[in-house]
Amino acid sequence: MKILAIETSCDETACAIVEDGHRVLADPVATQIEVHARYGGVVPELASRNHVVDIVPVVRQALSDAGLTWADIDAIGITRGPGLVGALLVGLQVAKALAFAHDKPLVPVHHLAGHLHAVFLHRPDEPKPAGPAWPHVALAVSGGHTALYRVDDPTTVHQLSNTRDDAAGEAFDKVSRMLGLGYPGGPVVERLARPGDPEAIRFPQPRFKDGGPRAQLDFSFSGLKTAVLTWIKRHAAEGLPEGQARADLLASFQRAAVDQLVLRTRRAAAQVGAGDVVLSGGVACNSVLRQRMRDALAEDGVALQVPRPRWCTDNAAMIAGAAFANAQARIAALGPGHAPEDRRMTAIASWRLHRPLEAAR
Ligand code: KG4
Ligand code: ZN
Repeated sequence: MKILAIETSCDETACAIVEDGHRVLADPVATQIEVHARYGGVVPELASRNHVVDIVPVVRQALSDAGLTWADIDAIGITRGPGLVGALLVGLQVAKALAFAHDKPLVPVHHLAGHLHAVFLHRPDEPKPAGPAWPHVALAVSGGHTALYRVDDPTTVHQLSNTRDDAAGEAFDKVSRMLGLGYPGGPVVERLARPGDPEAIRFPQPRFKDGGPRAQLDFSFSGLKTAVLTWIKRHAAEGLPEGQARADLLASFQRAAVDQLVLRTRRAAAQVGAGDVVLSGGVACNSVLRQRMRDALAEDGVALQVPRPRWCTDNAAMIAGAAFANAQARIAALGPGHAPEDRRMTAIASWRLHRPLEAAR
């Protein structure tokens, strides 16, 4: 089964065609990073406007890259949420129009279910990855999300924790902005932290007043962000840090963020008794996080699986892949063509991934 999917939840306009949930035949992405860089973060209205411009060329590109026509496509996958509502609606409306015009089933996908699925993707000339065993633990860590999940099977996910304030990627972006280093912050912070001493500054780890299992697994990054700001202000007489001082500051910040992610993921894997952990989302591109997570989990006999960087950041291949399991159920229930109820589907800007993925239509 070949699924063409569209993803427009944030600042990437993406379309992909994926066969049988894992074989990526095409996955062009039109990124808007330059549009938003001058504002230091994503501007929702500009994101929507640029999706409108880019979406049709990107869909055409996907079909031409794969050498396919609409007759070859079995279903259309679409990110229904969560995300920026105006951005989501552009992709959803285009997906609906295409599903109607070409008489294809429309399959809604939760954006984070996509991130969790990315680890199963591969190119046609590569072997299919074995993938994690079920149940496994997944950490989705991006600019908008930082949460742990227990993944029981391809369509059943339980959320174990969430961030209580900022997402980890957001903290990288904000620290980058404080130092005038641009957007997105993650890649530049990682690069400039490389010569730094991660022990130079001891930043605190979050402590929640409430007890219980949730407090063991929840995240918090706003305290860390404030601690970095306080450090910068305290040294304001010397101007913004540069050279080794900046490298030490960034390496210490990165160490604190990574420590928090690793500690909680390790706890979750132990609680679930999982032998495999999946790390996904834009922050999973961070090589210090990957290495520290891999080493720490190995001490517990747990294996780490990470999608390739292209499929860690927002993309439509993960959406097409995640749509596969639900597409089969959808076609069994409603038939292979466009269904009248598909026309009523709307975007869900805030949507928790805490129930079977075949969500309310
Ligand atoms: O998954 P993604 O493309 O979009 C969201 O769904 O948010 O993630 C983007 C986030 C940004 O906050 C960016 O700064 C962060 O991922 N990121 C990184 C790295 N590369 C991207 N954070 C830390 N280290 C990196 N190398
Ligand atoms: Zn994402």
